[in-house]
Amino acid sequence: MQTLLTRALETLDDTAALAAEVATLLAPGGVLLLTGDLGAGKTTFVQALAREYGITRTVTSPTFTLANEYPIPMGGKLVHYDLYRLAVPSGLYDLGFEDALEYGARLAIEWPEKAQSVLDLEVPQRLRLNLTTDQNGLRHAELLKEHLS
Ligand SMILES: Nc1ncnc2c1ncn2[C@@H]1O[C@H](COP(=O)(O)OP(=O)(O)OP(=O)(O)O)[C@@H](O)[C@H]1O
Ligand SMILES: [Mg+2]
Repeated sequence: MQTLLTRALETLDDTAALAAEVATLLAPGGVLLLTGDLGAGKTTFVQALAREYGITRTVTSPTFTLANEYPIPMGGKLVHYDLYRLAVPSGLYDLGFEDALEYGARLAIEWPEKAQSVLDLEVPQRLRLNLTTDQNGLRHAELLKEHLS
């Protein structure tokens, strides 16, 4: 596990600037896990990432559909998962997850804890963005590169 960058996110502009950095690091077929408490800013980050890829459609949390897909104008697509309501880890296979990886989509996954065993098996190399809030209420982001062996 390697820390690629850490940033303070005081404003939505800071989130946008971080999304620009992450957009260049997330390759086609790449997976970004978003971790952090309820309201940490995971969906907000995916919205900023989508804007970086030139996606103009409104990105909303796939709270009930669990997955939403957005074509990227320059090619490929961004698939946004919110696994909070996933009943069992294997449910991820029912969400078109293997096809998305195979066809070179970029995957952004909120609540990856809900499918950890499947993600560890299928996606040993991935980025993780960990969003936290400190005791002063300031948001922080840490981007990690994970290689499970
Ligand atoms: N950098 C930021 N600066 C200010 N407000 C922010 C920032 N990032 C997120 N927020 C605000 O925090 C609130 C919660 O954000 P968001 O819905 O993205 O959280 P989440 O981690 O996806 O939550 P959930 O766990 O429910 O999916 C929103 O009102 C959002 O506008
Ligand atoms: Mg969310």
